[in-house]
Order: sequence, then C-alpha cells, then structure tokens
Amino acid sequence: MNRFVIIYLTFACVFGVIVGVSNDGLLRLPVVRRSRRAADENGEKVAMANWRDDDYAVPISIGTPPQPFIVLLDTGSSDLWVPSVKAKDSPDCVNLCSARHFYNESESTTFEKGPGDFFIGYIGASVKGPIAIDTVSIGDLTVTDQMFGSGESGSHPATFDGVFGVSYALSAQIDKTTVLDRLYDQGQIKKRLLCTKLWKAPADSEVIFGGCDVEADDWIPVAVPDYWKVNLTKIVVTSSKDGSELVTVDVNAVAVFDTGAGYNIHMPTKYADPISNALAAKWDGISYLVDCANFTDLPNVNLHFGDVVIPLSLEDYAWKSGDECQLGFKKADDANDFLSGTMLYNKGTFIFDMDNSRIGLAGIK
Ligand SMILES: *[C@@H]1O[C@H](CO)[C@@H](O)[C@H](O)[C@H]1NC(C)=O
Ligand SMILES: *[C@@H]1O[C@H](CO)[C@@H](O)[C@H](O)[C@H]1NC(C)=O
Ligand SMILES: *[C@@H]1O[C@H](CO)[C@@H](O)[C@H](O)[C@H]1NC(C)=O
Repeated sequence: MNRFVIIYLTFACVFGVIVGVSNDGLLRLPVVRRSRRAADENGEKVAMANWRDDDYAVPISIGTPPQPFIVLLDTGSSDLWVPSVKAKDSPDCVNLCSARHFYNESESTTFEKGPGDFFIGYIGASVKGPIAIDTVSIGDLTVTDQMFGSGESGSHPATFDGVFGVSYALSAQIDKTTVLDRLYDQGQIKKRLLCTKLWKAPADSEVIFGGCDVEADDWIPVAVPDYWKVNLTKIVVTSSKDGSELVTVDVNAVAVFDTGAGYNIHMPTKYADPISNALAAKWDGISYLVDCANFTDLPNVNLHFGDVVIPLSLEDYAWKSGDECQLGFKKADDANDFLSGTMLYNKGTFIFDMDNSRIGLAGIK
C-alpha cells in the first residue's frame, strides 16, 4: 500500500496557518534528567504542550548527554523522528528549520549509525534523512538502541521538533520495535498502554505511559491492529432541545483514532453528506458553514461505536470564525475511513491499550 495512504497524520487542515506563525510561549521545556527508573503499574506521567487544541506534544530527550525535543504525540503513526542539525544545510530547510531543537549525532556518545535512510509521507507533508540509533528518554523512562529518523529535509511543518508515533508496530517503517514496544521490552513500563488527557487550553494536558489513574467506563475493541482503528457503526443526530432523533446514518467504516490529525473529524463524503444536510451546512470547498442565526440551535452528533457512544455538541464541533460559523467536520472524497481528530480526545480520558487491543474511554461528557 502507498505510504501516503496508510499514514494517517494529517496536517492538511492546520498546514496553512502553521508556517510563519510564531508560537512562542507554547512550549515549556522540562528539566532534562537521566535517572533510569522503571514505571510501576501507575505508569509514567508526562506533562504535554498544547498547540491551539489541535496538536499535543510531549518532551523527550535523545542521546548522551540528553538532547531535548518536543515531539507531536501521534497515535496515527508508529515512528519517531526529530530534525537533524544537518537540516540547516538543506534547501528545504524552511519548514524543518522552524523547529527549536536539532539532533546533533556528533554530540552523543551513544549514537550509532542506523541501517540506511527513512522517508515518511504524511498527508500534505513528508520528511526524510538517515536512520540513527540512540538512547531515548521520556520522563524518567529510558530505552537504549532505539532506531529513529534524523530528518534532514522535507516539507514537514516543524510546529514541534518532530513526531513520536505511538501506533502499532505493524505500521512502523523505521524500527519494527517501536518506542512503546521497547519501553515494555526493556522493563520500563509494565503494560503497552498509553493514557491521554488532551484537554482544551488552559487546562494542563498529560499522557501516562504504561498506566492510567482512572478506570475506563467503556472499552471499544480495536478492529484492525495496524493503527488505532475501531468500527464506527452509526452516527445519530439528535435535537439539542429535547434529544429527539433527527437523522440516523448507518456507517460501515473504521475510525482511526489519530491524535496527530488536528482538531477536525474527516469522513468519507457518503457519510458527510447526510450529516451536513441534517445540520443545514453548506460545503464551501474547504469547510462546512452554517447560518450563524441558527448557531445555538445546532443538534448533537452522536458517534456510535457498537454500544459505546461519544456525543458531540456544538461546543465540540462548531465555532464562530469572523462572520462565519464553521463545523469541524471535513469530507474527503477518496477516503474510506474516518479520521478522528482532537475534538474527540478533548472529551475525556482515552486509554490506548495495545496488549488487549482496545481503547478505553473515561469521563466522556
Ligand atoms: C555538532 O556537534 C559538533 C561536536 O560538538 C560540532 O562540532 C558541530 O558544529 C555541531 N554541528 C552543528 C551544525 O551545530
Ligand atoms: C468490525 O467490523 C467488521 C466488518 O463489519 C467485522 O467483521 C468485525 O468483526 C468488526 N470488529 C470489531 C472488533 O467489532
Ligand atoms: C435557521 O433559521 C431560519 C430563520 O429562523 C429558518 O428559516 C431555518 O429553517 C433555520 N434552519 C435550521 C436548519 O434550523
């Protein structure tokens, strides 16, 4: 399969606004430590940076002594890469060079040359360079001999210092033992599990590796364990006034739970059409727009995953932008799958449980 198709990280929607925008003040660099201490059943909690509620990033370090990076936490891919200092010599440097931190292999005593080069194509962006092997730390957890991409060129927008893919090894291109697998294999975490609390700003967001401090209220089984894919069975649009059912759309598709997909939910046109009709929304080629006069009356859109329902209200999926009222739903003509962005993960705690191939939901409101 074409990598452009199978890599789900989508920057398309935020691409235009990233470049040239100064986002100083966003990132809080942690004190870099290297005290290898395995996590217990509670896991290792790491504070995250939030970029416009679209993207959430986690501080890591690579090398000896540790070099700090803040990387996008992406459940929609399975590789780790960071920009290399050599990107500064590349003609494509424009995007990569807006990163804050660059990996300099010459300054790491644990660096080893990896087997060849990597290329990752995301939707609307790509990155390439040599594969490196080095020590990687997240909080107090450390793995050795991790292969990752040392990005020397590409169009990837460096809102962050690279991407940290936490999906299944099956989709990994650089190292078939992913960072999550290696954390487990090297005894740093007890479960291959990731617990995300991706809150809307100003609340502090966090991710816990190897544990979670809340119990799931519901579990959705993973349907295809190459990405975090679950079966979306129907979408029910209900009145926000009396809860009555307005439209039910039967869906036979998977939804990729992708924290790297930006805020929006992308869906195949055949499902987007009936839903947007129910919301009296018009597609302007980029976005769905609704009449602002009716804005506060917008119904609820309930996503059904078998018996588990995630309800979205207008606060989740719609906003005013100047004189326009926009929806956070996007249609994609050639898509077969739903791609679920951060509007979903803002709603509660999500537990990505790889050992049991399921996604847990807690405190969804
Ligand atoms: C990388 O580190 C080496 C060794 O400290 C240094 O000589 C070199 O200038 C660094 N490269 C860049 C581009 O900063
Ligand atoms: C997902 O849907 C497919 C097709 O309907 C079905 O074969 C499969 O058993 C479902 N998987 C789960 C985990 O519900
Ligand atoms: C929006 O409001 C106008 C005027 O009140 C009304 O005619 C129209 O039907 C409303 N649209 C929806 C989708 O409720």
